Amino acid sequence: MAIDFKEHIASVQDFPNKGIVFRDITPILQDGELYRAATHELAEYAKSRNADVIVGPEARGFIVGCPVATELGVGFVPARKPHKLPREVERASYDLEYGSNSLEMHKDAIKPGQRVVLCDDLLATAGTLRASKELIENLGGKLVGAAFYIELPDLKGREKLPDLDIYSLVQYH
Ligand code: PRP
Ligand code: ADE
Repeated sequence: MAIDFKEHIASVQDFPNKGIVFRDITPILQDGELYRAATHELAEYAKSRNADVIVGPEARGFIVGCPVATELGVGFVPARKPHKLPREVERASYDLEYGSNSLEMHKDAIKPGQRVVLCDDLLATAGTLRASKELIENLGGKLVGAAFYIELPDLKGREKLPDLDIYSLVQYH
């Protein structure tokens, strides 16, 4: 029987700010079978998009994306918060549901023409996704899909990238 991942996501009112309902995936991660099943769903999706490489935005995108990359036997590229990567970087800035930030990738992280699938825990306003897309494209890659455990459709992230194929395991309205 299909797993109901929603049963294993905790909803926390007013975190990190008043008015935000934080969707916490750590109950999935701490259960080996569930973490493997969620990873497998995203890996099947990335395989269907013929991904050459997986990109994961810091920090939860590392937790979600790294096991997808190892399941597929493809590389993993971290999109990191500023001043963490030691070599020459490309940078893009973005707004979040609760704040703003920038992401950086090493300039040689993606080879021209590589097919990239982004993996992360949650799609909200798509600020993170749009900044990651800008970085991937500036490095010569092609973002061919994005996969999430959770999508918040009311924040209309998907509508900001109408040409991108987006996959999510569960949605919260
Ligand atoms: C969260 C989440 C996504 C992003 C989604 O990361 O893990 O990356 O926000 O929001 P968006 O669609 O509006 O961009 P956050 O920046 O809070 O960082 P963290 O993973 O380090 O907690
Ligand atoms: N990132 C952006 N919005 C979020 C939310 N509501 N829950 C967890 N992570 C988030």
